[in-house]
Amino acid sequence: MKLVVGISGASGVELGLKFIKYLPKDIEVFVVATNAANLVFEKENNIKEVFNNSKIEASISSGSFGVDATAIIPTSMNTLAKIACGIADNLVTRVASVAIKEQKKLLLAPRELPFSPIALENMLKLSRLGVIISPPVMGYYSNSESLEEMERFIIGKWYDSLGIEHNLYKRWS
Ligand SMILES: Cc1cc2nc3c(=O)[nH]c(=O)nc-3n(C[C@H](O)[C@H](O)[C@H](O)COP(=O)(O)O)c2cc1C
Repeated sequence: MKLVVGISGASGVELGLKFIKYLPKDIEVFVVATNAANLVFEKENNIKEVFNNSKIEASISSGSFGVDATAIIPTSMNTLAKIACGIADNLVTRVASVAIKEQKKLLLAPRELPFSPIALENMLKLSRLGVIISPPVMGYYSNSESLEEMERFIIGKWYDSLGIEHNLYKRWS
């Protein structure tokens, strides 16, 4: 599976990093962060490549590269609005627009509190196009005893949406 992970400048960039960290090793991961995310990272061994956000000519910018799924974690309201309007002015917004046009899985994790009506309208518009709108919302039925456990639960839910196998949380039974 070819998976693109975008990181934008909302609070919780570490959730994006942990999302990458827990991925099964057989997934090819391509990472791009917006300038606002202000990240410098070269980490886990299964990251195939870390792209510069302005490198619009990158492989993942083309539908022909064959990305299977894209996740933007966290998604800032700015990046959300651009995606909802079809703006592709950097590599993160471009990979999102490619996922939509190619009808591939696209998961957005909008982070803001509270959400404005504008953000909610953008989310509804995208949801109706099949985009998975999955904000980092805590689930107390997971019986998490630490922030780390709660994060693993949320990341596990994201993996579920993308069809990625994991053992990050105990399923309800
Ligand atoms: C410390 C910090 C936290 C921020 N948290 C959020 C947030 O939770 N949600 C959000 O939409 N924007 C947040 N912002 C504002 C965005 O970074 C800003 O709107 C930026 O233009 C987003 O750019 P990008 O979409 O290209 O990443 C935050 C900014 C800073 C400096």
